[in-house]
Amino acid sequence: MKATTHSLRCTGCGQRISGRETASNFRCRACGELFEVEYAWSETAAGDASTKKPNPGALKYLWAERRTSTLAEDQSGVWRFRDLLPIVSDDQIVTLREGNTPLYEMPRSAAALGMNWLLAKHQGMNPTGSFKDAGMTAALSVAVANGYRWVACASTGNTSAAMAAYAARAGLKSLVLIPEGKIAWGKLSQAMDYGSTTVQLKTDFDGCVKVLAEIVERAPIYLLNSVNPYRLEGQKTPAFEILEQMDWRVPDHLIVPGGNLANCSALGKGFLEMKHLGFIPRVPKISVIQAEGANPLYRWMQQGAHGTFEPVTAETRATAIRIGNPASWKKAVRILAATGGWVEQVTEREIALAKAEIGAEGIGCEPASAVTLAGLKKLVTDGRVGHEETAVLLLTGHTLKDSDYTIQYHKGELLRPDEMAGASAAELAEHAALRREPVVMEANADAILRVLDAVPQPA
Ligand code: F0G
Repeated sequence: MKATTHSLRCTGCGQRISGRETASNFRCRACGELFEVEYAWSETAAGDASTKKPNPGALKYLWAERRTSTLAEDQSGVWRFRDLLPIVSDDQIVTLREGNTPLYEMPRSAAALGMNWLLAKHQGMNPTGSFKDAGMTAALSVAVANGYRWVACASTGNTSAAMAAYAARAGLKSLVLIPEGKIAWGKLSQAMDYGSTTVQLKTDFDGCVKVLAEIVERAPIYLLNSVNPYRLEGQKTPAFEILEQMDWRVPDHLIVPGGNLANCSALGKGFLEMKHLGFIPRVPKISVIQAEGANPLYRWMQQGAHGTFEPVTAETRATAIRIGNPASWKKAVRILAATGGWVEQVTEREIALAKAEIGAEGIGCEPASAVTLAGLKKLVTDGRVGHEETAVLLLTGHTLKDSDYTIQYHKGELLRPDEMAGASAAELAEHAALRREPVVMEANADAILRVLDAVPQPA
C-alpha cells in the first residue's frame, strides 16, 4: 500500500492535488473550499474508473477474515477496511484498535415510536469514548507519514481527547484549544491524562478555530480538525460496519448529530462508495439533527437552502455540538441531497428526554448523541420516517463523557422552569418515569425496601 494511491479533490472547483501539497488549513488555494480523498476507483475519478474497481465479494471475505487475525491493523475496525482507504503504508498506522463498535437494538424506543426496528450504532464504545477515534487513527497516521512532530486541534472536547491519545501513542506532541468552561469535564481530563498541552481560551469553539488557523500557518503543526480530509476517511468506516452488521441489508435511515457537519458527510461518503462499488443497491437517507441553539444548517434549509449561510452564536447544553459556524456545511448539504435526508432541530428538553430514554435502554450516550432519537421522533411524527422502515441512530459519544449533565437531569436540576413550562402532561409523565434521583437515607433495610415499592414499573 502506498501513499501515492490517492489524491485530494477540491469539493468546490474540482482541482486535484497530492496529499503533500495541502495548505496548512486544508482549504483549496484556488477557491477556499475543502478537499476530499479520491482513489482511482472513486466515482469522481478522471478516466475509466470501472476497470480499477475492487471486487466486493473478495473484500467482504477478506474483511471478515481479518477479524480473526492478531495483527493490530487487522484488529482495528478502521484499518480492517484499509483496502478502501489506502492513505498510508501499513507500518505507518497508529491504532488503538478503534472501531468494531456494537450495533444495538433499541426495543423500548422502537415500541414508543411504533417502529418495527430501531438500531443504534454506538461509536461511544471506541477507545477514547467517541466516534472521533475512527477519524483520528487515519489522520494521525498521515501526520506520522508526513513527518510532523506536532499536531493540534480546536475542539468541543471529543476531538481533543482522541487526538491527545493517538498523538501519545505515536510519540508526537499535541496542542489542544478548547473554549473555557464549555466542555464536559470527562473530555478535558482525557486531554490532560494523555499528555496534551491543553489551552482553554476565553472564546467559543468557533473562536478557537480562528486562532488555530493562524497558529498552523505560522508553525509546522499538523491540523487535525475535521477540515482534514483524512479524518473523514476513518469516519466513513462505520458505514461499512453497519452494513456488515446488518448482513449487507441497507437501513432506510441513518440519523446523525450535526455540529461542525463533517461526520454526516463522512458516513455519506462511506455509503456512497459502497453503492458505487456494487456492495449495496441503494444508500440510506442520512438526516442531520442539530440542537435548536446551534442550528445554522437547519435555519439555512428553512430559508429555502439558498442565499448566505449565516453563522449563529451557539448555545446548548449538548456542548459537543455547540458550534455556530460549521466548517463542513457544504459537504453536509451535498450528502443530504445525494441521500434524500433532512435536517431537524431539537430543544434542550427534547434532548434531555431522549438521552434518558437511551440510558434506560441500558446503552446511554452523551447529550449530543441523544439529538438523534429526539430528531427521529419528529421525523416519525410527520411521516418522513415510516413505521415499517429501519432506522439507525449514530450515537457519537459515551455516557461517561458528561456525567454532570446526567446527574443534573436526574436530580431535576438541568432544565430551567421556563424550559419545562411548555411540556405537555404526557411529556412530564415521561420525564417522571425516567428520572432516578439518588436517595439519601439511613442504613436501614426496611426503609430501602419501601423505596423499591415506589419505583415505577417499566411499561
Ligand atoms: N457528537 C459528538 C459527541 C461530538 O463530539 C461532535 C463533534 C458531534 C456529534 C458532531 O460531529 O462536528 O462532525 O458534525 N465534536 C467536535 C469536537 C466538534 O471538537 O469534539 P460533527
